Amino acid sequence: PLITSKEMFAKAYEGQYAVGAFNVNNMEIIQGIVEAAKEEQAPLILQVSAGARKYANHTYLIKLVEAALEDSGLPICLHLDHGEDFEICKSCVDGGFSSVMVDGSKLPFEENIALTKKVVDYAHARGVVVEGELGRLAGVEDAVNVSAKDATYTDPDQAVEFVERTGVDSLAIAIGTSHGAYKFKGEPELDFERLAKITRMLPGYPLVLHGASTVLPEFVRKCNDFGGQLKGAQGVPEAMLLEAGKLGVCKINIDTDLRLAMTASIREHLATHPGDFDPRQYLKPAREAIKNMVKHKIRNVLNCSNRL
Ligand code: G3H
Ligand code: 13P
Ligand code: ZN
Ligand code: NA
Repeated sequence: PLITSKEMFAKAYEGQYAVGAFNVNNMEIIQGIVEAAKEEQAPLILQVSAGARKYANHTYLIKLVEAALEDSGLPICLHLDHGEDFEICKSCVDGGFSSVMVDGSKLPFEENIALTKKVVDYAHARGVVVEGELGRLAGVEDAVNVSAKDATYTDPDQAVEFVERTGVDSLAIAIGTSHGAYKFKGEPELDFERLAKITRMLPGYPLVLHGASTVLPEFVRKCNDFGGQLKGAQGVPEAMLLEAGKLGVCKINIDTDLRLAMTASIREHLATHPGDFDPRQYLKPAREAIKNMVKHKIRNVLNCSNRL
């Protein structure tokens, strides 16, 4: 059945692990993720961005997820990723999602609170849960010194006020991660002191980590070996994500690693099978690559195997 993330997060908090939230854009990605979660008996969040809705169309994605629910029998949470205004959140609440993110992180504090509260009121009245965001994810060059961190990373006192005033069900925080394949120029570094402080100040409350792909060198190398040009790609080390999961982080967002797995597989297949032109010939191993990546995440990064 389609479920919210409420119970999942309560269990993840208690068990000191995290639930994976994987971005989906088409059938093969959904199938690969769901097969992995089923084999691992893991809790699962499928998330859809505005870009995914634009690419695949809301109805196609909803119907694919319905098919996944029916075929797998798994409990799955369907979540809007980075809803930037009330309208897209409303459209997903009305259109069958069980969870939405309202991302007011670019807005001034009071405006972020007002927008988030408006979405919370609408969603809660319809049984849908809401994720908010406070603080800005770093760009590659951002937040190298302490004052830059204070300006962009989540302020613990503000986090408490934000949660109290909005009633939001979970909160995405900024502690040094960023979206995409180029997360750090030098040594990877996350502000664990800040995370620990936010966890202490919001005991029992589920936090969310965006930009949490690990960008495994093996997949970058495979892309590059077969014609790609990904230079200086670097992700968050697995050990840091496991550590975050032991603190208040209950949801870890993963998109880039799925993109890398799929693209590496397709590049390799086409380069080594130059005669192939039936899409099923390269999409089948690509779907398998997604599945293997998600199984790896569930076991080695999320620690959420057999947590159903
Ligand atoms: O937060 C970004 C996610 O990776 C989704 O990316 O907006 O290109 O679909 P997208
Ligand atoms: P990555 O780019 O690190 O996979 O992060 C995805 C994400 O945060 C989606 O909201
Ligand atoms: Zn994100
Ligand atoms: Na956790």
